Amino acid sequence: MSFSKEWDERYNANTNLSIWPWSDVVSYVMRYARPNTADCRVLELGCGAGANIPFFQNLGVQYYSIEGSISIVERLWERFPALKDRIVAGDFTADIPFPEQFDLIVDRSSLTHNTTSAIHGCLELVYQKLKPNGKFIGIDWFSTLHPDSKNGVPDEDIYTRRDYTHGQFAHVGRVHFSDKAHLLELFSKFEITIMEHKIIQREIPEAGLTLAVWNFVAVKPNPLRINIK
Ligand SMILES: C[S@@+](CC[C@H](N)C(=O)[O-])C[C@H]1O[C@@H](n2cnc3c(N)ncnc32)[C@H](O)[C@@H]1O
Repeated sequence: MSFSKEWDERYNANTNLSIWPWSDVVSYVMRYARPNTADCRVLELGCGAGANIPFFQNLGVQYYSIEGSISIVERLWERFPALKDRIVAGDFTADIPFPEQFDLIVDRSSLTHNTTSAIHGCLELVYQKLKPNGKFIGIDWFSTLHPDSKNGVPDEDIYTRRDYTHGQFAHVGRVHFSDKAHLLELFSKFEITIMEHKIIQREIPEAGLTLAVWNFVAVKPNPLRINIK
């Protein structure tokens, strides 16, 4: 089991409750995928408190999610009763329990709370569940340039850490950091069509604080595509 149970504790303590759509999710989805038909299926890995759900509902697409925290899932069922069968509690690194194939799979900072081996396993499931030419959009995948990549306790490999007691990652279990080579390796079966390294230098408050994340689009190649030269 890769899911860190600390997330359930965070939500029970009413912390980490982001409820507004993340701007990079909105801009990446609209710029690089633009799903807008009623038959378009979108899966979000780890919806958390549901910040991105109203955005996808607004697009009129079929929204699905797997989220590890049962307590936040129960709250989402109350808030979005129409999605009761489409938001399921589970570990997305172990199973994606929907029979459907997806046009778009989105992950904002969810797989990044798992080990490298679990991420590998999940991306294999993602690959199987995407339609040919289907897209995976990764937003806010923590960079090895993030100052916290040196904090916490080392876990499975150089990319995974855990047991933070201070800062952004306090009490959320595992945190996974990536560099470009690691992302290319993780997504070697996909075609990465855009990858951006977003580095923010805070000036006020905490001048000098660096926030560093990756945003990217990975496409499942279409085996029927013929390259005409
Ligand atoms: C930082 S929150 C992001 C939530 C949401 N994507 C957002 O943008 O607001 C990470 C979420 O991923 C979930 N998560 C992490 N690993 C998971 C796993 N292996 N299976 C299911 N959910 C997981 C956590 O429970 C948490 O809700």
